[in-house]
Amino acid sequence: MTHTDPVTPGTHTHGKRAAAPKAPWYASVPGLRLFMTPMAPDTTLLTGEDDTAPGATGVARRAVDVPPFSRPGSVLRSSTGAAARGWYAPKLAGAPTTTRQAEILNTGIIGAPTGIEGVVNGTDNLSSTMISHDAPTAYNATPRKVTSPNVIIFGTVGSGKSSFTKTVMVMRPLLLRNHRAVVFDKKDEGGEGEYARLTRRMGAEPLRFDPDGSGTRFNLIDPLIVRGTGLQGQMLLINAVARIARDDTAATEWEEKATRYALQQMFEQRQDTTRVSTTTDLMPYLGTVPLDQELSEGARERFHQAGLSIRFGLENLLETYAGVFDGETSKSVDLSHKLTTFDISQLPDSGPAIPTVMAIGNMWLMGRLREERGYITNVIYEEGWHMIGGPSAQLVKSNQKLSRSLGISNVFVMHKGTDIPMDSPGYAVVQEAQTVYAFRQDRPEDARWAQETFNFAPDTAQTLMGLNPGNCIFKTGSKPEAHIHHVRSDWEIEVTNTDSAMAAGEAAAKD
Ligand SMILES: Nc1ncnc2c1ncn2[C@@H]1O[C@H](COP(=O)(O)OP(=O)(O)O)[C@@H](O)[C@H]1O
Ligand SMILES: [Mg+2]
Repeated sequence: MTHTDPVTPGTHTHGKRAAAPKAPWYASVPGLRLFMTPMAPDTTLLTGEDDTAPGATGVARRAVDVPPFSRPGSVLRSSTGAAARGWYAPKLAGAPTTTRQAEILNTGIIGAPTGIEGVVNGTDNLSSTMISHDAPTAYNATPRKVTSPNVIIFGTVGSGKSSFTKTVMVMRPLLLRNHRAVVFDKKDEGGEGEYARLTRRMGAEPLRFDPDGSGTRFNLIDPLIVRGTGLQGQMLLINAVARIARDDTAATEWEEKATRYALQQMFEQRQDTTRVSTTTDLMPYLGTVPLDQELSEGARERFHQAGLSIRFGLENLLETYAGVFDGETSKSVDLSHKLTTFDISQLPDSGPAIPTVMAIGNMWLMGRLREERGYITNVIYEEGWHMIGGPSAQLVKSNQKLSRSLGISNVFVMHKGTDIPMDSPGYAVVQEAQTVYAFRQDRPEDARWAQETFNFAPDTAQTLMGLNPGNCIFKTGSKPEAHIHHVRSDWEIEVTNTDSAMAAGEAAAKD
């Protein structure tokens, strides 16, 4: 021997396996084999495949070092004759144990938290069973499993919300009959929204909104809005948009009255025109005062000013985003595909444009869906905070009943909930949603908000802060929450991974 490896005394076998216990004489006699005591499996070596190879220390590994989960379970007798005579029992006797020790091996079987209806979400971490849920399917079940088809998905940046939303709220439900999806795509990924690739793979082109006027337009007073939600709905929308445009200043009673009057006048006087009314057409009517009412000089002046104040707010919006809100709704805005994507990723992050597009889009949808019943439509608001954290929340809340009857399932995706005041209509919308997916939260106060709002178990707040990407706390109806892992197929990973898109973009840039 040339090497001088340190060798533990007693374990060095000089190139030989540790001697196996000798088999008793009756081991080879057919009838008597039955009485043989169980033998320990062959020992294996720690280093090297071949114990005779130079350098192999030949340290024997005991059988207990084999991890228990790699064992195949009880080895049964293979002899059919013995089995037929009632000797069909495990070949190896189990380890002797006390009842106390065995208790841990006989814990109650953990049931699957969901049934098999809807779409596959992933696996439950506790029972390792499949989690299957689709909010509209659960809502339409008889008896209803949830009282609202709305969904809340939240978690910090990079926690896996969008990947989850793309697969579980868009791609998978679209395989179901009469399901479609509408997405407000907020996140910019190399010059367009993050759903652009997915939308094209589904055979459609995203509807791109661009402040420079080269993209899609939305008309604040699109005829579908009045047809869908009536004058009241149209009023709500104008008030919400005026509020967004005026830095969250709510309309006063006077302003509401002046807006209603302006709308009525406009619809009356323009009913014979063939062209669709636009926001610009409404402007001159805002600030007009009813002639037939007994108003004092002061009141007339106040009414006039109230109308003007709404007008100035809207005019500001029109001037800044003429290319987005001025004129009729683009002809391309329709639901002709299973997936409709409103790409708002190029609109500025702050300011009124994004919440206004979302608010008009929401109202437009109600009108559009009235024409085509029998569908289930998942409407996804990425950065849904714009919709339920601000002035538009009242719209969503007021339209809850109508949107349910039209088969809409609103999906609000956001980072955290602490921005939504407890006494706001947005908080009511959040509480009303019966399906919640909570991804990682970074701040204790955000985790606590989630725990309190959705009535999670007290220690879930801590769990929320330690979740890995793709893991979330899932809660539906009044059932207890489950810790689940979202599982994607290879194809879904390719389509949903934002990192891979970025990596591909970088590679392309280098070429
Ligand atoms: N189910 C999952 N399993 C493993 N990794 C995931 C999973 N979902 C997302 N990720 C990883 O997390 C990254 C960020 O996901 P994304 O959905 O964009 O997060 P968010 O929208 O919350 O910012 C993905 O690109 C992917 O690498
Ligand atoms: Mg995202």
